[in-house]
Amino acid sequence: MGKGKVISVVSAKGGVGKTVVSLNLALSLLRDYGKRVLAIDTNMTSPNLHLYLGIIDIIPFGIHHALKEPKIANDCIYIHTSSGLHMLPAPLTKTEKIGLENLKDVVDELRDRYDFIIIDTAPNIEKDLRDIIQASDEILLVVNPWLPIIVSNLRVVKVAEEHGVPIKVVVNKSGRDRAEMSDEEIRDSLGYKVFAKIPVDLEVYRGVEKRKPLIICNPKARASVAIRNLAKLIVKN
Ligand SMILES: Nc1ncnc2c1ncn2[C@@H]1O[C@H](COP(=O)(O)OP(=O)(O)OP(=O)(O)O)[C@@H](O)[C@H]1O
Ligand SMILES: [Mg+2]
Repeated sequence: MGKGKVISVVSAKGGVGKTVVSLNLALSLLRDYGKRVLAIDTNMTSPNLHLYLGIIDIIPFGIHHALKEPKIANDCIYIHTSSGLHMLPAPLTKTEKIGLENLKDVVDELRDRYDFIIIDTAPNIEKDLRDIIQASDEILLVVNPWLPIIVSNLRVVKVAEEHGVPIKVVVNKSGRDRAEMSDEEIRDSLGYKVFAKIPVDLEVYRGVEKRKPLIICNPKARASVAIRNLAKLIVKN
């Protein structure tokens, strides 16, 4: 069995669409491509991967337990029955600061069991950024096509480059504003060409509000098609 690929979905800014991309990418890899997928939520301040899936019950185990004792990571996995997605959710109420120093040990413990491990991350990550990048085989850098968001992500690019971790740029919420940055401007600013584009789509917003994953409840929505295409490119690469 080959080793799974660890892809972290990162952005310096909040609200750009990291969780929407992580969750729907994980679901597309699982459902459209039959891959074995684990989704990990490392957003301890506002964990919402499981909320976006519609899970409202208290989940007894999660990433916080696995980070404390990576050897038991496999016992902390939650299986979402209706979608089939395996996940390590983040705690809804946290009582202590949980660092990500052991994230690499957690993914190394689990990677043989999966084809892809998709890691959703928090915005404004400082020290955690290095731990996330060191645990990853690849970074999906999620941006919106607006200058302040692009500029604030230059540090993520720098740290990923320092660690030799490849970056794929995903532009989410495109097409909202005629004044938005072009693909060429984004490439010139970040130093990487745009790998995938996801349009702004009211269906994403509706799905999140209804706690129904977009690609399951609306697989033909424009944003679903774009995320499923992203999954296809990731399977090929
Ligand atoms: N392509 C899109 N079209 C329309 N709305 C979108 C799109 N992508 C994300 N959104 C909306 O933007 C909001 C933020 O999305 P999401 O929670 O995925 O961002 P995030 O980067 O994970 O935020 P945080 O940093 O707080 O974790 C949500 O209300 C979501 O519905
Ligand atoms: Mg999020």
